[in-house]
Amino acid sequence: MSRQTPDYGLDAPVAVRWIFIAGLAGAIAGFFLLRWTVTRHAGLLVGLAYAVQIFGFFCLTVASLMFASSRFGKFHARDRLLARLKLRGDEAVLDVGCGHGLLLIAAAKLLPRGRATGIDLWSQVDQSDNSREATLRNATLEGVAQRVRVRDGDMRKMPFADRSFDATVAHFAIHNVRSREGCREAIREIVRTLNHDGQVAISDLHGVELYADELRKSDMTEVEISGLSFWTFPPARTVTARKPKHPVG
Ligand SMILES: C[S@@+](CC[C@H](N)C(=O)[O-])C[C@H]1O[C@@H](n2cnc3c(N)ncnc32)[C@H](O)[C@@H]1O
Repeated sequence: MSRQTPDYGLDAPVAVRWIFIAGLAGAIAGFFLLRWTVTRHAGLLVGLAYAVQIFGFFCLTVASLMFASSRFGKFHARDRLLARLKLRGDEAVLDVGCGHGLLLIAAAKLLPRGRATGIDLWSQVDQSDNSREATLRNATLEGVAQRVRVRDGDMRKMPFADRSFDATVAHFAIHNVRSREGCREAIREIVRTLNHDGQVAISDLHGVELYADELRKSDMTEVEISGLSFWTFPPARTVTARKPKHPVG
């Protein structure tokens, strides 16, 4: 039977799984080690048993927070990020590294006369069951399929003409490009494909200073970095910027 409710995927599924397994193993091993050492009055080993158990509970907490972030928190983060753009409703919006369409689809709902485009290369490490089909299915289930487009591609070399979009967003996507130069390339592509007076809002768990630096070097104005938001785990910051109304120089 096909799924009838939208599914926006679990972020970093491999990391969540391994942190959870390590946590469970630590908590259980610590429990038994503690029982064994306490009955034998093995002083130093009692300390080790406590350390193993604390490590286990720490990992279980981290895995739970990451899971909760994907299932609940990121929807709040999405709404706050889109609210920053103050969209009129007729814009062309790009979601870079759209995954299952978290921002893409929410943006499309705010664009009765516009359109939302997502680009992704569908990494299974970065998000569970990631595919263009899953994203388009979500768009259909959310009633915005008519206003949503999805392209396969790498954010470092996007298949879009210059100045194609009025606003560009990215959520927990650019840090997945491992090299700093790769992240800078992605930012330059975002600027290239952005219309004059267009806006950018990028949320990420790290790297926002680098993105802000590249945005400034690319002549973007009003470059600002928000404080930490704890709706997601790890917590994230958002960098916003605007392209000048007229070409610089
Ligand atoms: C953690 S997921 C976040 C997805 C979505 N933005 C969200 O918040 O739910 C990161 C996404 O970035 C995509 N991605 C990673 N590297 C990419 C690249 N070089 N070009 C395009 N997309 C990329 C992954 O495939 C994945 O869908």
